[in-house]
Amino acid sequence: METVVSGVRPTGNLHLGNYFGAVSNFIAMQSEYNCFFFVADYHRLTTHLGQKNPLKEDVYQIVAEYLACGLDPNKCTLYVQSDLPETAELYLLLNMLAYKGELEKCTTFKDKVRQQNTNINAGLLTYPVLMAADILIHKANKVPVGKDQEQHLEMTRNFAKRFNHHYDCDIFPEPQAFSFNDSLIKIPGLDGSGKMGKSEGPNNAIYLFEEESLIRKKVMKAKTDSGPQSANSTLSEEMQNLFQIMQAVSSSDTYEHFIKAYANCEIRYGDFKKALAQDIINFCAPIREKIKEYSADKDYIKRILNLGKEKAKESANKSIKEVRSMIGFHS
Ligand code: TRP
Repeated sequence: METVVSGVRPTGNLHLGNYFGAVSNFIAMQSEYNCFFFVADYHRLTTHLGQKNPLKEDVYQIVAEYLACGLDPNKCTLYVQSDLPETAELYLLLNMLAYKGELEKCTTFKDKVRQQNTNINAGLLTYPVLMAADILIHKANKVPVGKDQEQHLEMTRNFAKRFNHHYDCDIFPEPQAFSFNDSLIKIPGLDGSGKMGKSEGPNNAIYLFEEESLIRKKVMKAKTDSGPQSANSTLSEEMQNLFQIMQAVSSSDTYEHFIKAYANCEIRYGDFKKALAQDIINFCAPIREKIKEYSADKDYIKRILNLGKEKAKESANKSIKEVRSMIGFHS
C-alpha cells in the first residue's frame, strides 16, 4: 500500500473552505492509503514563536476539529510533529544537502521576506527542508497538497534524489503531489473575492465551530450584486461565489430554485441568504457539536496523539536508522 504524508500548521480554526478542501481529501484517503497526518507545530515556530501563543491549546484544538470532521485514528496515523524528533534529525542531515541559493529562490520564502521582514530567521529559510524531512521520514509516495506547496514538494524530490545519489542508494522514493485542487469543490469567501481564508478578515470565512447566530449574521452581510439586470444575465462574481457555497451545502432542489429565480429576475436576496444561512448551519451544527465534545475531552485527545506517536515512531525509526548507517555514523 502506498504511503501518504501531510501536515497542517496549527495556526487557525477550520472553516468551510478547509472542510471541502484538504479535510475531505484526508478523510477520503485514510481508507485507501497508509496515511500519516500530523500537526506541524515545529513549522508554526517559523512565524509564531512559542510562549506568547498557546501552542499546546492550538494543537489540541486542531486535532479536535479534524476528529470532528471524520478523521479516524484507527485508519490513519495522527500525530504531532514535535513528538517525532527523528524528523528533526533528518532535517539536520538534509540541511547539509540543501543549497542556500535554492532556498532563497523559493517563492514562499520570498513572500515571507516581503510580509514579515522583522524576523527572517533560518527556520523560515529552511522551511522546505523540514517539510522534506516530514515527508521522507515515512518514505511517502504521495503528498496531498495545494498548488501553493508544489514547489516545496519539488524541492523534496530534489533532496531525496541528492541523498540517494550521494550515498549511492535508493532509500527515498520521490514523492508525488496528490493535487486535489482540481477535483474538489472550491469554496469562495463571503466578501465577493477569491477563496475562503482566515487572512481575508473575520467576515470572509465561516468556521466550523461557529454558533448559528454568527453564521447567520455573516451570511446576511455577504457581498451580493445589485440584482440581475435582465433575464438570463450571467451571474456576477459575487453571486457566483455564494451559489458555489450553496451548491456545496444545500440540496440540488434549493440550488436549482434560486438559480432559476436569478435567471427570471425574481430572486430576492433576503430569501436566498436566509436559505443559504440555514443550510450552512445545518451542515456545520453536527460538526460543531463534535468539536465541542472532543475539545472538552483533552485526555482522549492526548491518548489519540500518544497512539499516533507510537505508530509514527515505528516508521520514522526505521528510516532514520537506514539514513544514519548510509551516512556512516559510528553507531
Ligand atoms: N507547508 C504545509 C502548509 O503550509 C504544511 C506542511 C508541513 C506539510 N510539512 C508538511 C504538508 C509535509 C505536507 C507534507 O500547508
